[in-house]
Amino acid sequence: MQSDPALIVALDLPPPEVMALVARLEPARCALKVGMGLFMRGGPELVEQLVRSGYRVFLDLKLHDIPSVNAESCRVAAALGVWMVDVHAAAGAAALALARDTLEQYTPRPLLVAVTVLTSTAPAPGAVLEDEVHNLAVQAQQQGADGVVCSAREAAQLRCALGRDFCLVTPGIRPDPGVRDDQRRTATPRQAITAGADYLVIGRPIVRAAEPLAVLDRIEDEIRQARAGDTA
Ligand code: C5P
Repeated sequence: MQSDPALIVALDLPPPEVMALVARLEPARCALKVGMGLFMRGGPELVEQLVRSGYRVFLDLKLHDIPSVNAESCRVAAALGVWMVDVHAAAGAAALALARDTLEQYTPRPLLVAVTVLTSTAPAPGAVLEDEVHNLAVQAQQQGADGVVCSAREAAQLRCALGRDFCLVTPGIRPDPGVRDDQRRTATPRQAITAGADYLVIGRPIVRAAEPLAVLDRIEDEIRQARAGDTA
């Protein structure tokens, strides 16, 4: 059972607001996720600044290109000192394998996670979507990915199929299940941890809250309780 902070805060805000928020967080409490919007505005300098401040940074650019182009982006990300990068599993086996080989050249090596099906995609009738997530995750594992990005709703099945050491990163987390925004396959922090998620990606419920630190406190409590329940 993992015991380091499970929370990854998605910094989907303009750079000045990001820096104000980050100044109130601590690297021991959470990792930080930089998505495409923030990366386009803040650039590599902002990523380096977060890394220098001691944060584990997930550079979430959801790479989905030909293998050589994906690999070049992985190289740049690794040189920035990020902790985690992602490539779309649907980019294919060769793209995943080359991304892994490329990252292998860096110490510490950033974790490579493969995006399966976006959590904004609604659940489909039957098990079509679960099967798709499963197949993409199996391929990702075979090509050397450290884990996948999936919804917490698929986490239990993937944990069972792919083993304890495969990392499950779950966005679409909603402490208040009534507020989904544009997410569709959502889960509460408790549900995600209980299902076997390693890392919970949470953006708007924290970064758009009037009191982000109070929300963070509550989520940490919920994660602690869920983990305690798991090991009891
Ligand atoms: O605000 P919210 O908690 O919905 O943010 C979720 C974050 O996780 C966003 O930054 C989004 O880009 C990211 N993400 C996702 N679904 C994926 C992969 C990443 O929502 N499959």
